[in-house]
Amino acid sequence: MDALIVTLPGDGIGPEVLASGQRALDAIADRYGHSFHYDQQLIGGAAIDATGSPLPDNTLASLRDCDAVLLGAVGGPKWSDPNASVRPEQGLLRLRESLEVYANLRPVKVSASLRDASPLKGELLDGVDMLVVRELTGGIYFGEKTQTPDAASDLCTYTRGEIERIVRVAAKLAGARRGRLCSVDKANVLATSRLWREVVNSVMADEYPAVELETLLVDAAAMHLLSRPKDFDVIVTENMFGDILTDEASMLAGSLGMLPSASLGDSTRGLFEPIHGSAPDIAGRGIANPCGMLASCALLLRHSLGLDEEAAALEDAIEKAVASGARTADLAAPGSTPLSTDAMTAAILKFL
Ligand code: IPM
Ligand code: MN
Repeated sequence: MDALIVTLPGDGIGPEVLASGQRALDAIADRYGHSFHYDQQLIGGAAIDATGSPLPDNTLASLRDCDAVLLGAVGGPKWSDPNASVRPEQGLLRLRESLEVYANLRPVKVSASLRDASPLKGELLDGVDMLVVRELTGGIYFGEKTQTPDAASDLCTYTRGEIERIVRVAAKLAGARRGRLCSVDKANVLATSRLWREVVNSVMADEYPAVELETLLVDAAAMHLLSRPKDFDVIVTENMFGDILTDEASMLAGSLGMLPSASLGDSTRGLFEPIHGSAPDIAGRGIANPCGMLASCALLLRHSLGLDEEAAALEDAIEKAVASGARTADLAAPGSTPLSTDAMTAAILKFL
């Protein structure tokens, strides 16, 4: 098949891992007889430097005809002045909004070979396989903001429709997995969470009676993620809770560098990015872990291009490389010599 992929390297280690992703997609194209075309565009701090805007018009225009978008990361100390009028992160939020990708899928699976890389006890981790479905285009991220020198506010709003559609995505995915959905909210304090809970209960009762529903308050969920991680199948939650809980959950997998994400809407055109950020502390050194990016490429193949076999082959190659002992610095045992980003990518592609 022919596919057009918009690539957005962004900032920090973004360009380094994006290059690995493109290498992996090219390897897949070669092996399975596809042609993937890339349209590289600016986003984030790099875009601010070049054009003054974190999401320039050319980037927005490129989205119209593409099949999928692959993003590295945005942000960094250079653009972090709290008084700056534009920030790299605004580019990413506007991108998610323009693509209308309201469902952010963040799978968290623990490789048996990385059991010891997690700060948690190994016996808690065997068999952990969860999927966090984070609402991505609503809530406190997108509400009105005010700021004066002495006071500031961020409005959090959700509509019934926004909650219904994300719950349906999560419930469908749960139905195709182990049939369990956990909804996370803060209904004892927040009005948006009380609406969230009511909508979840009614959608699940009316449309997905076969999916088992559990409800947790977000503070308890943060604890349960560490005390009984293997109980979770699909978790559905609002934007900011999902942001926080997935960084926490990444420690189950040993490193934030391992985890991919897919952001989807009602069409097949999705946005794919590792969940790690721009990691300015290691940027430019060629040592970033490419696994989160490569796993994001697998999600792109599956969800936007419908190439299930290719996606599984790439996921399998990552798993085998890690099982064979290939490690970047974030996961390498003390005293061992870690692989560079390029060497790790090569170690994975060898298993394709
Ligand atoms: C993420 C990131 C972003 C978010 C930032 C960079 C705006 O932390 O994708 O998890 O908060 O959504
Ligand atoms: Mn985050």
